[in-house]
Amino acid sequence: MMLLVAALLTPAETRVLREAAGELAFGDGRATAGQHARTVKANDQAQPSPDLDAIMTKVETALAASPLFRSAARPRAMTRLILSRYRAGQTYGLHVDDALMGGLRTDLSFTLFLSDPATYDGGALVIEDTFEARAIKPAAGDLILYPATTLHRVDPLTRGERLAIVGWVQSLIRDPGQREILFDLDQAVDACFARDGKSDQFDRLAKTRANLLRMWAEV
Ligand code: NI
Repeated sequence: MMLLVAALLTPAETRVLREAAGELAFGDGRATAGQHARTVKANDQAQPSPDLDAIMTKVETALAASPLFRSAARPRAMTRLILSRYRAGQTYGLHVDDALMGGLRTDLSFTLFLSDPATYDGGALVIEDTFEARAIKPAAGDLILYPATTLHRVDPLTRGERLAIVGWVQSLIRDPGQREILFDLDQAVDACFARDGKSDQFDRLAKTRANLLRMWAEV
């Protein structure tokens, strides 16, 4: 399942983070690429610093506060986030993300866009499945969540600067089909409660969701 979490950050929050990101020191992005991915990766990434930590803490707080993100990803743990920068001529060619990072299994990848799409050309995130390639270039403050199992790339930038934060989730629910069932149940439970309150139907649905979670969760 691919999901857009629109406005994870407000425009004001996004601007503050983008300006803070602009003050950071950047190094070669190949430092965090796998053996083969590094041959097609040409971007920059922010060097570790207390200012970078402050940015990442704000993003982690926003992720933890997003019901949509939590419902779709059901995070058990997340990797350290990476703040990446592309300038004209930079790109990240077709690759698959490493399956294991820092002791975690990467089930889901996400990209949080910090730059206004009108300020740069190129730079779309292109995700391939067996049927088609989908190019995504959303508003600043939006997050794309997608299966880490996919081949994907970042189109070459031809103008401006593209700042984004990327990270990976190990989900409590390893199987994407099971994760989608629980995501749909979340919507149904919420809609049922909003319509009729704590009805018999709500109790049955909530019980089903809880018991599927017990059946499937890896804790
Ligand atoms: Ni990637």
